[in-house]
Amino acid sequence: MLIRTPEEDIKYVLYTEEQIQKRVAELGQELGEKFRDKTPLMICVLRGASFFFTDLCRQMKCHMNIDFISASSYFSGTKSSGTVRLVKDSSIDMTDRHLVLVEDIIDSGLTLQYLERLFETRKPASITTVAFLDKDVKKPNRNGVDYRGFVIPDEFVVGYGLDYADYYRNLPYIGVLKEECYQ
Ligand code: IMP
Ligand code: MG
Repeated sequence: MLIRTPEEDIKYVLYTEEQIQKRVAELGQELGEKFRDKTPLMICVLRGASFFFTDLCRQMKCHMNIDFISASSYFSGTKSSGTVRLVKDSSIDMTDRHLVLVEDIIDSGLTLQYLERLFETRKPASITTVAFLDKDVKKPNRNGVDYRGFVIPDEFVVGYGLDYADYYRNLPYIGVLKEECYQ
């Protein structure tokens, strides 16, 4: 049983709720303008992107459809396993649709690359990728993601949908965990 609150496990806050909402509003406005006459199919990569996704969609002033998929590249802990699995697929026909793939965070870039390649085979009109966070610090935009909320240092972060061992997703900010919380 966990007796400490999630907040008590945070070493420091990287982005506050206010900073996040301001940036998401900017991104949403930009994307809303880009897709004004295109009715994009917004695809949320569960579970990490769920909080970002719903905030982003609400800031986009255009018609859209939404769907949810689930991919897994982390089996546990804080290191990528190197293999990506599609755990839940979309049931919507993607042919000639403008897809907007919404991810929580880009680390190695493997998950996004896998999903882009998979959806390209379904003949969409376009694929636009959006990640809330990008750990792209050494080589700018090596992953080729189209829109990013923030570029962050190579640290393991939690909150605003992001987890450690499936906890901490409900924190309204992005934070770094205290060392003693990693097992
Ligand atoms: P990639 O395939 O290596 O780019 O990893 C992407 C996935 O790893 C994300 O969708 C997250 O689920 C997870 N991930 C990577 N870094 C972090 C982190 O700092 N906190 C929480 N999850 C992370
Ligand atoms: Mg994830």
